[in-house]
Parts: sequence; C-alpha cells; structure tokens
Amino acid sequence: MSVTSSGVHSDIQSIASYIQKLKAEQPGLLCAYLRDMGALRRHADERVQTLPRRCKLFYAIKANSEHEVLAALAGIVHGFEVASLGEIRKVREISSEIPILFGGPGKTEEELEGALEYGVSLVHVESGHELNKLNAIAERRGLVASVLLRINLRGPLPQAKLAMGGKPTQFGIDEEVLPEIVAQLQKLQHVRVEGFHFHSLSNNLDAEQHVRLVEYYCTLSRQWAAKYGLTLNYMNAGGGIGVNYADLEQQFNWSEFVSTLEPMLDRELEPTTTLLFECGRYITASTGYYAAEVLDIKRNHGKDYVIIRGGTHHFRLPVSWNHSHPFERIAIEHWPHSYERPAIYNSRATIVGQLCTPKDVLAQDVEVEEVRVGDVLLFRYAGAYGWAISHHDFLSHPHPEHLYVEETSLIFGGGQ
Ligand SMILES: Cc1ncc(COP(=O)(O)O)c(C=O)c1O
Repeated sequence: MSVTSSGVHSDIQSIASYIQKLKAEQPGLLCAYLRDMGALRRHADERVQTLPRRCKLFYAIKANSEHEVLAALAGIVHGFEVASLGEIRKVREISSEIPILFGGPGKTEEELEGALEYGVSLVHVESGHELNKLNAIAERRGLVASVLLRINLRGPLPQAKLAMGGKPTQFGIDEEVLPEIVAQLQKLQHVRVEGFHFHSLSNNLDAEQHVRLVEYYCTLSRQWAAKYGLTLNYMNAGGGIGVNYADLEQQFNWSEFVSTLEPMLDRELEPTTTLLFECGRYITASTGYYAAEVLDIKRNHGKDYVIIRGGTHHFRLPVSWNHSHPFERIAIEHWPHSYERPAIYNSRATIVGQLCTPKDVLAQDVEVEEVRVGDVLLFRYAGAYGWAISHHDFLSHPHPEHLYVEETSLIFGGGQ
C-alpha cells in the first residue's frame, strides 16, 4: 500500500476521489456510509472460492443487514446466519431459497414457528428448554426440525476482545451438560441433531490459532458423535475471524488459514461432515466507510478537538470497543466563506461527534498532519457493526446517507 501525493492511501484513492466529486457537486454537509460494492463482491467471492471444498461460508447478517449488502452477497455466499425473526424476514425478502442458519439465545415461540415457516435449514439450539420448545412446535406442524447443538466449551480458549464461550456466558449449552441433553433427546421425536455449533470468540487475528481452534472443535465433535451415537453431518465453527483496526496493513492471513485448514480437516473430520463458517465482521468490514465532514476545530484545556457531522450515534463501534478508529483526511479545497477557516497542522487531536456526551469519541488523541473545517474524515473498515449497532436517534440528528458505490460511480443511494 502506498500514500499518494494527496496523502490518501492508494487503495482508497477511488473512494476519496468519489467523495471530492460528491462534495463539488452537492451542496450541504456530507455525512454518509459508503459501500464499495465491487470490492465487497470480490472480497466475499475470493473467500468462498479459496475455502476447502467441504466447507461452506455463511454470512452472519448481524454485522450489516442492509438490503443492498444482502442482495450483493446472496449469489456468492452459501447462505446467511440470522439471530432473529426480523433477520429471517430480511433474508427471505432477498431470496425464498437461500439456506438460513438460525442462532442466538432466548428464541421465542414466534421465532421458532417463523424459522419452520420460512424454511430455515438448521436451528442452533442454545439450551435444553429451547430443544423442548422447538420439538413441541415441530410436532404441532408435523415436522422434524434439523438442529445443531450450540456448545459453550469449558476451554481454555484463546483470549479475545469478545468471548462467548470458554467461560460462563448466556450462550450455548455448557459442555458438561451434554450427557443430560443427549438423554433428553431420546424423548424428542421432532428434532434431529445433525451436529454441533461453536461460536466462542470474536475478532481473532491469528490464522494459525484459528485453525487450531477449529481443530479443537472438530476433535470434540467427532468424539461426542461417536460417544453418543449422533450423526455429524455438520460442524459449525461460527464466525470470529477478525479485522485489525489498530494496524490496517496487518490483517488476518487468509491464505495461510485456508492452506492450513485443508490438511487439518482431512485428518480430523470424516469426509461426510461439512464444515460451516458464519462470519460477519470479516465479510463486510473492509469495504464499508463512514465519511463525515469536519464542522469545528477547537482547543480546550490545551487539547485539540475535531468535531464531525455525525458521531457515535451513527458509528458506535469505536466507543463500543474503546479504540481509536482508523481514518483518513479527504482534502476539500472549496471554502466559500469570508471568515477564517479553522485548521490544525502536525498536532494530536481527539475526533468527536455532535452528541452531548464526552463518550462521543471516534479517535482519542491521535496524530493528525492536517485537518481543516470542511475537510472530510473517512473512517475505514466501518462496514460491519457500524450503523447496525448504533443508537441512531439519540439527539434526533439527521441520519447519514447510505451510498452504494459501483467502482466509483454512484449506482443508488438513500437515507435510512
Ligand atoms: C452465533 C454467532 N455467529 C456468528 C457471529 C459473527 O461473528 P463475527 O462477526 O465475529 O464473524 C456472531 C457474532 O456475534 C454470533 O453471535
């Protein structure tokens, strides 16, 4: 990756030029999510094409469930993973057939009914009670529901920013309770266990370690299937492949991952078992951007603050993860005002939004070469768990635009 004469990294030069063009053509303040649609499709397609043959890649839509994103991915990934009836409906608006996996704790009767109604392929059952509930609903409907048992392993598992397993959490069935669940299954004629599901952690950046984790899942699944006489058609290794927000140049090494995965699977899993992945962040983060115009720059108690149009009510990820989110400055030369243009040069600054809380921080005390009011800050790797996890209406500011960019020419856009 190189830096161009305008100071922008060359891999996002086209998005930067697009923003400059947009600013030149459209009056008013810029605040938008942008999605590079071509890059999204290429990224997902390369991942699907390079996985070992017996693997299937699902997209966990909680990371970003925008219609345009789902429509772009539907022809590429093997299916979608959802966590609510609302998400099931979003997927079915795109396709009546694409396979759906349904996970998450506390599924309601309505959701389980909906899962069967909408033809969900596998329900990831999270507790003994949920198993009974699903069995009763399937019985009423004269069906047998295919399920994977979601297991919370005792571990120890690798350290993670967010851990769903390897320690007490609300997720999955405690590994130690599995014998009781197996005994319970003897009485349930309307659920068919087809394997195990594990989603233990989020944002793993280490490819080699991720293969070892999947290997651990494979070994246990195989042993349990043999011990309890269960069919192992599927093993779901969850999501959790990470994005390195702290150093964009050092991302998860996908080619190392897939080349180490294949021989491990040949050793550890019967050829009849399909390995499922349900990745969210890794699929949609890198090709999404949050762009916001600088509204004000000021010095307060000896520190510089850059205030942008928008903030954490649009893009909550940095505050949720308590990190400084990587961004680039897009220079906007046009300054139509007769009064002075505030600017800082070669300084450290905190990038904040418009909310009335000191927590509205997107980057804390970071180096800035040059920023002026009217420039645009472009937050990178903002395409997953950005808009989707934010508290949009706090303070009733306008929502950002959502622009879906096809190679740099705008194909469609709209507010949300
Ligand atoms: C059950 C389950 N599967 C998949 C995912 C996607 O995880 P990630 O975005 O880390 O790939 C999540 C995220 O929380 C999840 O809870």
